[in-house]
Amino acid sequence: MSFKTILAGTALAFSTLAAGSAWAETIGFSQVGSEGDWRPAFSANMQNEAATYGIDLKFADAQGKQEEQLRAVRAFIAQGVDAIIIAPVVVTGWDQVLQEAKDANIPVFLVDRDVDVADKSLYVTRISADFNLEGKIAGAWLAQASLGNCKIVELQGTTGSAPAIERNAGFQAIIDQFPNMEIVQTQSGDFTTEGGKKVMEAFIKSTNNLEGICASFAHNDNMQLGAIQAMKEAGLNPGTDIKMVSVDYVPAMADALAAGEANASVELRSAVAEYIYPVILDYLKAPSDLPKWIVIPSDLHVAN
Ligand code: AHR
Repeated sequence: MSFKTILAGTALAFSTLAAGSAWAETIGFSQVGSEGDWRPAFSANMQNEAATYGIDLKFADAQGKQEEQLRAVRAFIAQGVDAIIIAPVVVTGWDQVLQEAKDANIPVFLVDRDVDVADKSLYVTRISADFNLEGKIAGAWLAQASLGNCKIVELQGTTGSAPAIERNAGFQAIIDQFPNMEIVQTQSGDFTTEGGKKVMEAFIKSTNNLEGICASFAHNDNMQLGAIQAMKEAGLNPGTDIKMVSVDYVPAMADALAAGEANASVELRSAVAEYIYPVILDYLKAPSDLPKWIVIPSDLHVAN
């Protein structure tokens, strides 16, 4: 056998090893889509970090559609991946496909958003921030900033999604403690800048230029950034006339805070592969009962 043949053989063995099961795990990731600034940052982190952990990541962007996610998960099952990660668009409608993954002995890990299923054994664990707590942090900041006296307009995230449900509930739980705090208008802006702008334009019209309104609470920064545009176009001063509090702390919101056009943002970390991949790899090495929720911390950022 010539030197060249040995080298070629070694290269083949190495590539077989890398692509095979000796160290690489093949994991399918069904992602919500690419709305806003936070989600693309999260996707990039998951994709960029996969190789570091020896993961062959099959990434599927569902473009905000649950049907696409169901299709992607079924394709991962057919491919026989080692594990499936899902960031579910909405909480309902998952029982059947999760059962199919379980029947195929493929463990499922939820990231970011939650599902509402009767049988929790259909997934191993959820690794995510606490959206309810994020709503509470936003509400507590506003209670303090307004001395408990505030009429609020709320820009909700995607209807039926875990962050929209839980951020609303957490925020409401705090303002319920203050008799003079109240959400007076609420509407979904679907987590997008354009959606937030449209919703704020409607609020501006229906409240005679936000008369009597003290704050805008948005379930994400992109909607709030759209709301800021709408308010400026209407001659209002976001961050001064109206207190602006939202969630994500994306770079454009950090700029808005620095410019005084927003007041507070609760950070939803996007570089979270380091929380997610080790849990999955450890489980694949030695399956064990994990807590049903592994929580990633969230932090408050305020304008100076
Ligand atoms: O599920 C998390 C939320 O989804 C983020 O706050 C938002 O920006 C994204 O669209």
